[in-house]
Amino acid sequence: MCGELVELKTPTAPSTTSSLKTMVSTCEGELVERKRLTKPTNVKSKSNKRLTPSPLDDLSHLPTLSQRKQETFSYDINDYPFYSLVYAMFRSVKEIPDVTTSNDITTSLSSLHQHLLSFTGRTNNSPFHKAFKNVISPHMSVSPSLQKVRQNFQFIYHQFIREIVAPMLDCDPDDLYYQRTPALRIVVPSDTPVGHKHCDYEYGHQPAEVNFWIPLTEVSRTNTLYVESMPGSRDFAPLNGSLGMIFKFWGNQCLHHTVANQEMTTRVSLDFRVVDKRRFNSNFVDRKGLCPGFQVPYYYASSSDNVERPNDK
Ligand SMILES: [Fe+2]
Repeated sequence: MCGELVELKTPTAPSTTSSLKTMVSTCEGELVERKRLTKPTNVKSKSNKRLTPSPLDDLSHLPTLSQRKQETFSYDINDYPFYSLVYAMFRSVKEIPDVTTSNDITTSLSSLHQHLLSFTGRTNNSPFHKAFKNVISPHMSVSPSLQKVRQNFQFIYHQFIREIVAPMLDCDPDDLYYQRTPALRIVVPSDTPVGHKHCDYEYGHQPAEVNFWIPLTEVSRTNTLYVESMPGSRDFAPLNGSLGMIFKFWGNQCLHHTVANQEMTTRVSLDFRVVDKRRFNSNFVDRKGLCPGFQVPYYYASSSDNVERPNDK
């Protein structure tokens, strides 16, 4: 069972030494997410003084015990073909094999390091990341074929939140805020880990958030994420799985980290954060005394939004 109150970490005093740039460069994928924010970012009070951090023992703004629990579920990849849509985005920038079956695509994704020879460990600026960002960002101009990929991705992601994620959190389909743009991770074989051991609260995320992680390749041994089962337990265990599985964990308070990927394969995954609307704290103040930029509707979308089904799926 996850997280009793006594296990929660106490807010620490605001740091005066770590800049935002330092923060975002040490958390896997955080750089990309912060860049996407337009407003408001790190809002201070009118007097420009830091605010009192929100208490971590406020049950009304924490996930339920059930929501905090680390769990693994499966979904139908034919109904939610993230793997093929992401692959189509990747094919727009690199000559990777023209394959269509799930086995062939996961095999090809597992070999992406052959196209990323100049990258070691972190690949946040790879051509594949740029393609992903261009296609899923509505304001970016893309070809008509990629426009279809964009519309399909937006639709299946929204439906996935409503039909798969909402039941995992014991919520109705309309009752979630979810990360508008999921994070793409591509981790190539390397001698060094990507990022460092952390919980997302350190980066200004509110404790009501629950993390979801979708592998698009096999993830196991050194090529996966290690997560503790409850805050402070230090019982780090790997998330083992493959395409068609989804992992849920309370990454806001449970530490997580990677190790050096010493397999001969690349890991490709998507992840995002979700909040039960009843537990969302719109006045959250982080441990630095700042109101983070993770707000509705900039960072979070609502699962009750109307996202139209594309004409040609
Ligand atoms: Fe994290």
